[in-house]
Amino acid sequence: MCGIFAYLNYLTPKSRQEVLDLLVTGLKRLEYRGYDSTGVAIDSLDNKDIIMVKRTGKVKVLEDAIQEHFSGDDYSEPVLNHVGIAHTRWATHGVPCERNSHPQRSDDGNSFVVVHNGIITNYNDVKTFLAKKGYEFESDTDTEVFAKLVHHLWKKHPNYSFRELVEQAIQQVEGAFAIAVKSKHFPGECVASRRSSPLLVAIKTRTRLAGDHIPILYGKDADSVLPRSDSTAEFMPLEEKEVEYFFASDASAVIEHTNRVIYLEDDDVAAVRDGTLSIHRLKKSLDDPHAREITTLKMEIQQIMKGNYDYFMQKEIFEQPESVVNTMRGRVRFDGTTIVLGGIKDYIPEIKRCRRLMLIGCGTSYHSAVATRQLLEELTELPVMVELASDFLDRNTPIFRDDVCFFISQSGETADTLMALRYCKQRGALIVGITNTVGSSICRESHCGVHINAGPEIGVASTKAYTSQFISLVMFALVMSEDRLSLQQRRLEILQALSKLADQIREVLKLDSKVQELAKDLYQHKSLLIMGRGYNFATCLEGALKVKELTYMHSEGIMAGELKHGPLALVDDSMPVLMIVLRDPVYVKCMNALQQVTSRKGCPVIICEEGDEETKAFSSRHLEIPRTVDCLQGILTVIPMQLLSYHIAVLRGCDVDCPRNLAKSVTVE
Ligand code: M6R
Repeated sequence: MCGIFAYLNYLTPKSRQEVLDLLVTGLKRLEYRGYDSTGVAIDSLDNKDIIMVKRTGKVKVLEDAIQEHFSGDDYSEPVLNHVGIAHTRWATHGVPCERNSHPQRSDDGNSFVVVHNGIITNYNDVKTFLAKKGYEFESDTDTEVFAKLVHHLWKKHPNYSFRELVEQAIQQVEGAFAIAVKSKHFPGECVASRRSSPLLVAIKTRTRLAGDHIPILYGKDADSVLPRSDSTAEFMPLEEKEVEYFFASDASAVIEHTNRVIYLEDDDVAAVRDGTLSIHRLKKSLDDPHAREITTLKMEIQQIMKGNYDYFMQKEIFEQPESVVNTMRGRVRFDGTTIVLGGIKDYIPEIKRCRRLMLIGCGTSYHSAVATRQLLEELTELPVMVELASDFLDRNTPIFRDDVCFFISQSGETADTLMALRYCKQRGALIVGITNTVGSSICRESHCGVHINAGPEIGVASTKAYTSQFISLVMFALVMSEDRLSLQQRRLEILQALSKLADQIREVLKLDSKVQELAKDLYQHKSLLIMGRGYNFATCLEGALKVKELTYMHSEGIMAGELKHGPLALVDDSMPVLMIVLRDPVYVKCMNALQQVTSRKGCPVIICEEGDEETKAFSSRHLEIPRTVDCLQGILTVIPMQLLSYHIAVLRGCDVDCPRNLAKSVTVE
């Protein structure tokens, strides 16, 4: 999804060249979110104009264009106060092209330039209104409408501050957005805001800030239709004036500069003027805090760098022995049977009294719910419903006060999941967030939750987040069954298996070169069927999703029990099939399916347990994985699928980290 990066320096000399380097690096950090075009805007040398460079395609193309555009010594002259804004666009309104790339501008003179994530749903109405006022539009975007609306308000209210103009404008637009605005009429100032789309402000000072929060200022006429906010409000005082600010869609873009960030809330308007940041809200509600906390990020720059790997996805697959341990760290006591999930501990009695558990997510996050449903049913003895967020909303699903709803999301910003969360919250259900992104919307809007602590996941294809979501839900099931005598043996078996998991994942990762060889057999095919059942059905769905999104090949995860009800018709001697057949309670049924496939001349690749000669005898191509407890098999069986999709994608020349048409964080419905 689109990415915003803006940089403001105040009393911190930076040349335009340095600013451009910062902007390009910021965009590179956001590349993983998915995009199709890019752009930057900085001040002209005489400070009287704004110069924009925009390109279709990758950030590298923009970087080359910038080098060509801004050469000469003048660009290396330091300036004390300057604002640069930059963007990666993922097309929603209008095809990917330079004309539709951001920044979008208000007029020929570049009075106001805007970068924007999300969708302005009433842009047609605003466009019609502005067209009647004489505005002509040069792009197909909803963003341009916003830039022109600010310009219109500026002409109408020449005495308004920059912040007031943006405040007025955001009240006229509907939808989900994050914006950052720059203006040649307000040099050195930047105004940003968000509604249902993430945006943070990061602060870098040489000395300590005056406090660890920024007070929120409210407009005087907050409830009027076009209110004028309180322009006399005091800005946050800083001990020292030298300061740099970064506005970004997520923390990975700023962590190399500072670890001090403020996550903006919906309808916050953050403005920097004379080097001072203020956060305003027009409407005050009862549960509003008085200030926005400055959060100290724990992430390290190394965590988002590729290191020796060719792709982020590859790095993230190979990080799983560590990431699963990080998910359990400080929570699972392997020397006993206790598990403490600090984020939900106080809610466990309430959860135990609930009517049912609902697990809601999209894509891979949804699959982690499918993977753990059976264990949750077994250990909680509660009905467990697993829902795709988009479908859940389409159905207006009945939700009750005594429901406990889990929202699973790596990014914590997926629009469908967030909408489903709000829907359930309004109906009084207890909301539990399972996310990987501290400070994300799902985190903040949940009553309680579990951080999966998998570390930053940059590749669009989710890998380590899946295994960590899986383990988080297993840990929850173990917590829920702590006082059930009849389940102690089962719990012990799972705990022992959890303690061996990291080493077993390392063993599975050793299959990499074998999987690569398999990929060579498969990459020119059009389709791949992945079959399994029971605890491994989720691996089939997840494996097929990985193959589709990374390789653009057709792939289908098939419940082996359904073979005779249709999919068997697809099987012949040329259809690539992969089957998961492990020694668990459904082994005999899986063998049955395997026989059905081989007797139709199918020659499946089999994922089986180490040393299982009987199963291996059915095919010449197999991947053997270590034995673990049934409910954790899915963690070991998904890894060959992640590797396989990765290698097929490389062989097919696909963009592994940024598959076409996809985004890391899907912040639109
Ligand atoms: O950030 P989320 O976990 O909420 O994202 C949900 C899906 O968009 C995501 O899992 C998607 O399916 C992955 N790209 C699959 O690899």
